[in-house]
Amino acid sequence: MIIAVDGPAGAGKSTVSRLLARSLGFTDIDAGAMYRALTLKALEHNLDAGDTEAIVAMAQRTSIGLTAGPDGGIRVLLDERDVTQEIRLPRITRLVSDVAKVRGVREVMVKLQRKLGASCDSVLDGRDIGTAVFPDADRKFYIDADFKERVRRRHKEMKEAGQEITLEAVAADLKNRDTIDSTRDCNPLKKAADAVYIDTTDMTIEQVVGELVSRIKAPLKRN
Ligand code: DC
Repeated sequence: MIIAVDGPAGAGKSTVSRLLARSLGFTDIDAGAMYRALTLKALEHNLDAGDTEAIVAMAQRTSIGLTAGPDGGIRVLLDERDVTQEIRLPRITRLVSDVAKVRGVREVMVKLQRKLGASCDSVLDGRDIGTAVFPDADRKFYIDADFKERVRRRHKEMKEAGQEITLEAVAADLKNRDTIDSTRDCNPLKKAADAVYIDTTDMTIEQVVGELVSRIKAPLKRN
């Protein structure tokens, strides 16, 4: 079974998907983490995000793996190296949307996501899972929240991770990424026509997970 969870940054997708996968006994596949790992490698090789040819060539010879960590969270492996912490740093977040908008990069990543997702029951979270990666997913959700609330959540998360950043800087980053992710030519962020829209602004994480679980367990209505 494939469950697609899409939505903008800061809406709570990753946390919800992790808990949802755990409660269903599924594998959690964080597509954003894969684009972040590639972005880290591009930075380490001093590649310019505008040099699409070099970025695509790099993507084609990069190994990205997701594996379960001892705490139950996902560990992200870039060419066998654990980069789970590093890919969350602001310098990666600032650049990731520019790397992820490159068509050739997306082709490589989508292929890998399909391979990983097809190998077991999975929850995949990202921007284009229900529209492009698995258009035939068994269940599709689009998780959203008010912009202010998304900024507040992302700021709290970064502070808890020990990153010093102002609310204004987080707001500017989210606005910039929302724009790039939803206006790019290739597979932009968009709610799939058959995805269930969930506004999580006034919901706790537990409520969102509960809502998803009950919808997944309910018989699917087909029109
Ligand atoms: O969910 P996140 O913030 O970790 O995602 C980081 C970036 O990766 C996001 O700004 C756009 C890109 N991304 C994408 O283009 N397609 C996906 N399916 C998932 C993420």
